[in-house]
Amino acid sequence: MKDKKVLVVGGGGREHAIVDALSRSPQVAKIFCAPGNAGISSQAECIAIKDTDIEALKLFALANGIDLTVVGPEASLARGIVDTFREAGLKIFGHTCDASRIETSKEFAKRIMLKYGVPTAAYRTFTDYSEALEYVGGRPFPTVLKYDGLAAGKGVVVALNMDEADAALKDMLLDSRFGEGKVVVEDYMTGPEFSFMCFVSGKNVYPMPLSQDHKRAFDGDNGPNTGGMGAYTSLPFITEDDWKFAFEEIICRTAAGMEAEGCPLSGVLYGGLMKTPQGIKVVEFNARFGDPETEVVLPLLKSDIYDVFLAVAAGCELTEEPQWDDAVTIGVVLASDGYPGSYEKGFEITGCDQVDGILYHMGTRKDGEKLLTAGGRVMMCVVKGNDLSEARDKVYNEVARISCPNLFYRKDIAHIAFQADSK
Ligand code: GLY
Repeated sequence: MKDKKVLVVGGGGREHAIVDALSRSPQVAKIFCAPGNAGISSQAECIAIKDTDIEALKLFALANGIDLTVVGPEASLARGIVDTFREAGLKIFGHTCDASRIETSKEFAKRIMLKYGVPTAAYRTFTDYSEALEYVGGRPFPTVLKYDGLAAGKGVVVALNMDEADAALKDMLLDSRFGEGKVVVEDYMTGPEFSFMCFVSGKNVYPMPLSQDHKRAFDGDNGPNTGGMGAYTSLPFITEDDWKFAFEEIICRTAAGMEAEGCPLSGVLYGGLMKTPQGIKVVEFNARFGDPETEVVLPLLKSDIYDVFLAVAAGCELTEEPQWDDAVTIGVVLASDGYPGSYEKGFEITGCDQVDGILYHMGTRKDGEKLLTAGGRVMMCVVKGNDLSEARDKVYNEVARISCPNLFYRKDIAHIAFQADSK
């Protein structure tokens, strides 16, 4: 029966993809999104509550008879939204504060990996700046420095030499912006990175299609790191054996380890993995859907996502494995000129109604009938195809229909797949 009310927490492209998937459910009658965005407002009622205002979100869910809440951002998980909602008797998809440490504490994640034999780079943890600097001086460069906590994307530095390591360690251990810090110092790994997201309900793990994000701002993986400039599914450089190893030895092992530690998972486990010359290893775990990976993965889900969310939220086994479309997807992010540095907002975007594809909004706002830019990453155009080549040609055709004087995008999304293909 189509009578369920769902609240989605967050307001970016990832949450737009979640809302879009929920809108395809035959059970979902009404979707609220807090805070949502201009694009989301065409499929859900947007509520002006911040994603970190846990108390206000709880009161909203209670007052509006919400059947299920789905959490997008890690900041809401880290603030205990799942614990608070469950204490109030509300159903919610996402990990508890304890379980979210798999993302929010790099040291906790490393300890879990070491204890349960999940392959990752060798590491040591430091609280003292001088000791950290001395250790780094004895390791090969590059070296990876990870701040042990949420640091709004600024917590990981790949230092190429001692000067860069020194500057980063000063930032992380001596600068109060980061708080009372710990730093994980890791050996640097090489190889293509990919994202393996799974729905995890205790020991039960349900894989989603693999995807790859493009973190650098410009073509050829050049320029500064961003929140992600595009993504695609179907990775030709990952063999069946690679997949099996990543699933069994990394994701399932971690899920079982978390349960054994008394903090079972009840949401998405995102493995940021790397295919190194020594095999697949973990770069990082996230405790949530990836962004922009979710925007290319969820359009492939054929099953009713409400059933998946509900079972995982309750820590139950699914009655059947989620079913996925065999098609592939590519998504290209349109970002404001200047992003990820400073940029201007308020430019009109036209042509969206001409696009034959999905447009997930990331940072837009409406001014009457006009659609305006309102963020660094503005929107993502996603298309499906029978293969990557078809999907790539199509997505760039569709992106070209969008006009705005202040947007740029990468022209080479999925380039690694084409290099791997031609080998
Ligand atoms: N795409 C990387 C992330 O979601 O953290």
